[in-house]
Amino acid sequence: MAYIEFDNVVKSYGSGDAEVRALDGASFSVERGELAVVLGASGAGKTTALNILGGMDTATSGRVTVDGRDVTAESESELVEYRRADVGFVFQFYNLVPNLTALENVELAAQICPDSLDARETLEKVGLGARLSNFPAQLSGGEQQRVSIARAVAKNPKLLLCDEPTGALDYATGKQIL
Ligand SMILES: Nc1ncnc2c1ncn2[C@@H]1O[C@H](COP(=O)(O)OP(=O)(O)O)[C@@H](O)[C@H]1O
Ligand SMILES: [Mg+2]
Repeated sequence: MAYIEFDNVVKSYGSGDAEVRALDGASFSVERGELAVVLGASGAGKTTALNILGGMDTATSGRVTVDGRDVTAESESELVEYRRADVGFVFQFYNLVPNLTALENVELAAQICPDSLDARETLEKVGLGARLSNFPAQLSGGEQQRVSIARAVAKNPKLLLCDEPTGALDYATGKQIL
């Protein structure tokens, strides 16, 4: 069994004539240690698939297992634990806490994880060592995206899920982040 098994997953919104299938029987598997990239047109269902994999959304049908754990069968409190301990998530639109500095945003995530990395060092690695005490509104889109990446990486998670993680970055910075 692969580390991640995404098996025949359907996600539908609405019903009858108004039904939209964001995912219509999507299946893939990813091995431990593998870097997998999901490509598709806008509206293809990439964000929906990542949200289900990260335990933030639920499938209408199908099964998702991560390291033998059936994410689709878990209770809300088990999913909280899964999201906190196992998953690092880089959101397409960053989702930083606006009234916390860059450093505090990363520390907040690191503090709730057992094997987290140093928040300051992780921000230095993404090139933001000089922006530690800036608030999100004082940072460019690309800088906010790098705080969001540092926040996910600093959790040192089993699973790092990134939704268009270099969308706001120039070519050279994007390549460096990858
Ligand atoms: N809450 C929702 N209600 C209705 N339709 C939705 C909802 N969320 C997403 N969709 C639809 O599901 C499809 C896939 O969306 P999404 O996963 O965001 O695509 P992508 O990330 O690949 O651009 C789109 O057609 C979108 O309009
Ligand atoms: Mg998307």
